[in-house]
Amino acid sequence: MSKYLLHAFLLLTPFLPFNHALTLPLHSGATCEKSLLQTASTAYLATQSTGNFTNLTPLLSPNFTYIENNKAIAHQSGILHKALKLDHNRTNYDLVQCATYTELVSASGPYVIGTQIFLDTTSGQIRSVDSIVTTTNAWLFNATKTLSYIRSESWPEIPVSKRDKREVIQAAGDAYMDMWSNATAHLAVPWGTPCVRLEGSAYTGKGQPDDSCTPGIPSNHNQKPNTRRRYVIDEAMGSVSIFCVWEHMMDAADSHEFRLEGGKLRFVHTMTECGGKVYCSGISL
Ligand SMILES: *[C@@H]1O[C@H](CO)[C@@H](O)[C@H](O)[C@H]1NC(C)=O
Ligand SMILES: *[C@@H]1O[C@H](CO)[C@@H](O)[C@H](O)[C@H]1NC(C)=O
Ligand SMILES: *[C@@H]1O[C@H](CO)[C@@H](O)[C@H](O)[C@H]1NC(C)=O
Ligand SMILES: *[C@@H]1O[C@H](CO)[C@@H](O)[C@H](O)[C@H]1NC(C)=O
Ligand SMILES: *[C@@H]1O[C@H](CO)[C@@H](O)[C@H](O)[C@H]1NC(C)=O
Repeated sequence: MSKYLLHAFLLLTPFLPFNHALTLPLHSGATCEKSLLQTASTAYLATQSTGNFTNLTPLLSPNFTYIENNKAIAHQSGILHKALKLDHNRTNYDLVQCATYTELVSASGPYVIGTQIFLDTTSGQIRSVDSIVTTTNAWLFNATKTLSYIRSESWPEIPVSKRDKREVIQAAGDAYMDMWSNATAHLAVPWGTPCVRLEGSAYTGKGQPDDSCTPGIPSNHNQKPNTRRRYVIDEAMGSVSIFCVWEHMMDAADSHEFRLEGGKLRFVHTMTECGGKVYCSGISL
């Protein structure tokens, strides 16, 4: 049966049990509507730029949880109630998990924020807004510098024929995150050339074709692991956002985003918040 005929057949036979399955909850591997994700991220951006939470209210699940720097808190005391002038926003879409990741910079805030939003795959409502919120005294924090480095980079959508599989993208991110606690993990990272790391406002790139991400990677592999990982994966962006507890650095709240191009690591962006402790800002890996 052609796709068109099948579609017509399904429309005409709403009583068939297998047709009913189309309206059942999404299962792992199923896709969710990109437009649903775009509605959520647009409302999120409107909320952050105005500080008016009402933009999000109609989209929230009754079970909505708000997480900031790895702690569930009342959204009323969160950053979303503060209007920020946004100088940069980029959203990645995970159609399998029905989730988004947004990177935000407000130079005047000053804030650099990473936010994962998960939708309930049954209702399409927002189940959680999970943010890593960095500001003055966060690790290597300087929003103006971060903004200028982000603006110097190019993250075009990857042509369909050149996309890496989500498992490959996630494995690359996980291998990188494992380097602190696993002596061979670095061997599993598909290092690319050029490759640059933007850690807070520190940039390893020199704009050279041979820029490498390996200088300064952990040499002590006996540190505490990076735990409680949450992932948002976008094959069209070649990226995985991983939020975690940075246990080896005072349980800091951490965001790492990795972008692969042609199977190789091209960009790493990090945000790390240590509860506003000043000593966090100057610490090194
Ligand atoms: C988000 O970024 C896009 C450009 O990438 C811009 O058009 C839009 O206005 C930005 N949204 C907000 C709320 O700043
Ligand atoms: C917040 O947004 C809602 C809906 O968009 C609007 O009705 C309300 O007046 C706004 N509140 C403030 C304080 O601007
Ligand atoms: C909310 O949580 C309860 C208890 O875990 C669950 O039974 C219910 O289905 C959830 N509702 C939604 C809309 O997610
Ligand atoms: C951030 O970096 C810019 C550019 O290097 C510099 O001019 C500015 O003083 C820095 N801001 C802070 C708060 O350190
Ligand atoms: C350490 O990393 C390697 C990848 O090189 C992986 O094969 C191995 O399973 C990891 N070990 C542990 C304990 O996770």
